[in-house]
Amino acid sequence: MSEYEISIVGTGFVGLVTAVCFADRGIKTICSTRNEKNAELINQGIPPFFENGLAELLKKVVDEGNLVCVTSREEAVLKSDVTLIIVGTPFNHIDKSINLDYMKQAGTDIGKALAKKDDYHLVAVRSTVVPGTSRNMVGKELTELSGKELGKDIGLVMQPEFLAEGRSIEDTFWPDRIVIGEYDERSGETLQKLYERFYGDHIGENCPIIRMNIESAELVKYANNSFLATKISFINEISRIAELVPGVDVGKVSNGIGLDYRINHRFLNSGVGWGGSCFPKDLNAIVAFSRSKGLEAKLIQSAIDVNDDQALHAIELAEELLGSFNGKTIALLGLAFKPGTDDMRYAPSRRIASKAVSLGAKVKGYDPKAKESAEEAFGQDGTEIVFVDSVEEVVKDTDCAIVCAEWDEFLELKPEFFINNMRTPCVVDGRRIYDALEFSKQLKYRIIGHKLE
Ligand code: UDX
Repeated sequence: MSEYEISIVGTGFVGLVTAVCFADRGIKTICSTRNEKNAELINQGIPPFFENGLAELLKKVVDEGNLVCVTSREEAVLKSDVTLIIVGTPFNHIDKSINLDYMKQAGTDIGKALAKKDDYHLVAVRSTVVPGTSRNMVGKELTELSGKELGKDIGLVMQPEFLAEGRSIEDTFWPDRIVIGEYDERSGETLQKLYERFYGDHIGENCPIIRMNIESAELVKYANNSFLATKISFINEISRIAELVPGVDVGKVSNGIGLDYRINHRFLNSGVGWGGSCFPKDLNAIVAFSRSKGLEAKLIQSAIDVNDDQALHAIELAEELLGSFNGKTIALLGLAFKPGTDDMRYAPSRRIASKAVSLGAKVKGYDPKAKESAEEAFGQDGTEIVFVDSVEEVVKDTDCAIVCAEWDEFLELKPEFFINNMRTPCVVDGRRIYDALEFSKQLKYRIIGHKLE
């Protein structure tokens, strides 16, 4: 047995959370990143980014000596028995297909390291990759560069992760299933044994381990994210239909269908749509993958199209209240793609701000956690907005407030707050957080999915 049981290549949000959770269960873990500054921070017990609960847990496992971070992938691989690849798989901006450069490089580096190792080593792909990647790209790099044989000297599995930002530690500790795509039985068995130890009694009826071939497991991840995103786009389309009929509230409709056990109520909250690091990238990647094989994935493409329109629907609702945007000042409440994170990737607030500016408005934005990342994201977009440090400041002297992310501190705001602080009290409730009747009685108010009678 090696000095560390597990090595993790990549210390982004999924990589670091996974590393910390393994280490917390007493499994000695070594992670690697090329970023020296991040490695230093991690070794001091400081996460390089914000994620709920991560700072406390990282400090604990580093102090206990169960987690270290190095800058050499070779060192990480050689000092462990199992390597998890958790690197980014972004999309190419031109055709929106998946960019596998980091994945290929990981395969190359691990392959080179394994050339120097005598014992059996298991490699697990945890990143989201289109079907065929783990076997044909990673497997190929591993064997060619190590000179060893898959299934004999090296094991290979693909195990998709289902972590959501903001609750990724809970998601890691309490998954509802573990999917293992295996190259051969020994590979699958090795990973299954590790998880049986890691999860103990949690494995069973509430969390089965399901095993399949590698490509099926790769597709599970895309199917999972596509289904969830489609569910949201579906309820957003229903919300637009609801708005055609005064008095119909999409919240009631959502509740009405969510109680059907075949549907369930999760991911049926209508709003300004989905963003983040996974849904946009993964849906586009699987559409591009299908297209490359001659199939148009029409339903998934529609889920993307509905979502693209949905953020801009907040602008249409604001226009109903304001007439024109020209010369007006708009306040954006919440900039991150959802509460509990500072992640600005594909955040609906970006499209809303950019549209408002193009229509001649000035935009102010406030987010409890995402100020720095928002400054960077809006800078990249070339959208000029003013960032402030409190919800009072953001609504001060503005003409319309648009709720883009439902942070807790916005939930308790009352109509008086907007009336007392805004130049013209108008609210567009893009996340359906306020009591529509209460608000609409006191100020100009629009809510997604409910045209008031
Ligand atoms: C998602 C998946 O949940 C996770 O399993 C996968 O591994 C990565 O992608 P994440 O992007 O972190 O996780 O966030 P999630 O909580 O799923 O929300 C995604 C987006 O959907 C957010 O913009 C959120 O605001 C939006 N959303 C979610 C809705 O608009 N309505 C809902 O009912 C639920």
